[in-house]
Amino acid sequence: MKILFVGCGNMGAAIAAGALRKIPGLALSVVDPDVARAQALLPDDRVTFHADITAVRDETFDATVLAIKPQMFHALPEDALLAQGFGLVVSIMAGVTLAGLQHKLGHSRIVRTMPNLPALVGAGMTVGYAAPDLAAGDRPVVETLFAGSGQFAWLPEETLVDSATAVAGSGPGYVFAFAEHMIAAAQAVGLEAELADRLVRQTLLGAASLLHSDPRTAAELKQAVTSKKGTTEAGLGVFEGPGGLPDLCRSGVAAARDRAQELSKAG
Ligand SMILES: NC(=O)c1ccc[n+]([C@@H]2O[C@H](COP(=O)([O-])OP(=O)(O)OC[C@H]3O[C@@H](n4cnc5c(N)ncnc54)[C@H](OP(=O)(O)O)[C@@H]3O)[C@@H](O)[C@H]2O)c1
Repeated sequence: MKILFVGCGNMGAAIAAGALRKIPGLALSVVDPDVARAQALLPDDRVTFHADITAVRDETFDATVLAIKPQMFHALPEDALLAQGFGLVVSIMAGVTLAGLQHKLGHSRIVRTMPNLPALVGAGMTVGYAAPDLAAGDRPVVETLFAGSGQFAWLPEETLVDSATAVAGSGPGYVFAFAEHMIAAAQAVGLEAELADRLVRQTLLGAASLLHSDPRTAAELKQAVTSKKGTTEAGLGVFEGPGGLPDLCRSGVAAARDRAQELSKAG
C-alpha cells in the first residue's frame, strides 16, 4: 500500500507512525514545508519526505491523508489536490465538512475523520464519516490506516462528527483538567506536590485500564468500589450532587458540540 500524508505535524506524524507499525510493506510519502521537523517527528527510513506537494504530482497513491490545519487547506491553490493519483482522500481536519472537501477536491472519494491526541501513544479514538456511495473497498483502507493509532468507529451521519468531537476529540482535555484539579485537591488535603501528581496519574491510568479490560459498565465498576457509608460514597455524594458531574458533563459536552457545529458551518 502507498499512502501520502499532506502535513506531518503532531497528529499527522502520530497517525503515520501507527500506520507504519500496522501495515506491512507500507510505502509512505510525506509533504510538509518543514522537512527537518517532519523527519524528527517521524524518524523512519521507509518514509520519503518532500517540502512541496508539486514533488508528488506525478505519483500514484492508494490514499492521501490531509493532516494540515483547516486554514492551510483553504489557502491551498485550487488545483493543488486535484491530481487523480491521490486516490482515496482521508481528512483529519477539524471542522472541514464533506461538502467543503468535495467542493475543493472536485470528487467525492473522501472520508472525513476525527482522531484524538492519545493517537500519539497508540491509544487514540478516531471516528469517520463517508458519503453512503463511497466504494465498499475504500472503508477497510481507512480502518487499516487508523488501526495502529488506537480504535476506529464509523458514524452513520455527518452531524454526529460534531458530537463525537465533543466527546472523544475534546475528551482528553476534560480528563487532563480533572487530573489537574484532583492534584490540587490532593495537595489541599496535605499531600506533597510530587506525590499528589503520582497518585492522580496512576489512579487515572489504573481506572482507565479497568474500564478498558473489565466487561462491567462504568456504573457497575463505580458500584463495586462504593461501600455503604464509606469514603467513596462520601466523595461521590459531592461529585454527583446538585450541579455536579452529571450536569457538568451534559452541559460541557453540549457546549463543545455547539462550538464544533459553529466551526463546521464556517468550514
Ligand atoms: N492535535 C489534535 O489533537 C487534533 C485532533 C483532531 C484533529 N486534528 C486536526 O489535525 C490537523 C493537524 O493538526 P496538528 O495538531 O497535527 O497541526 P500541526 O502540528 O500544525 O501540523 C500541521 C503540519 O502541516 C504543515 N503544513 C502547513 N501547510 C502545508 C501544506 N500546504 N502542505 C503540507 N504541509 C503543510 C505544517 O507546517 P508549518 O508548521 O510549517 O505550517 C505542520 O507541520 C488539523 O487540521 C487539526 O484540526 C488535530
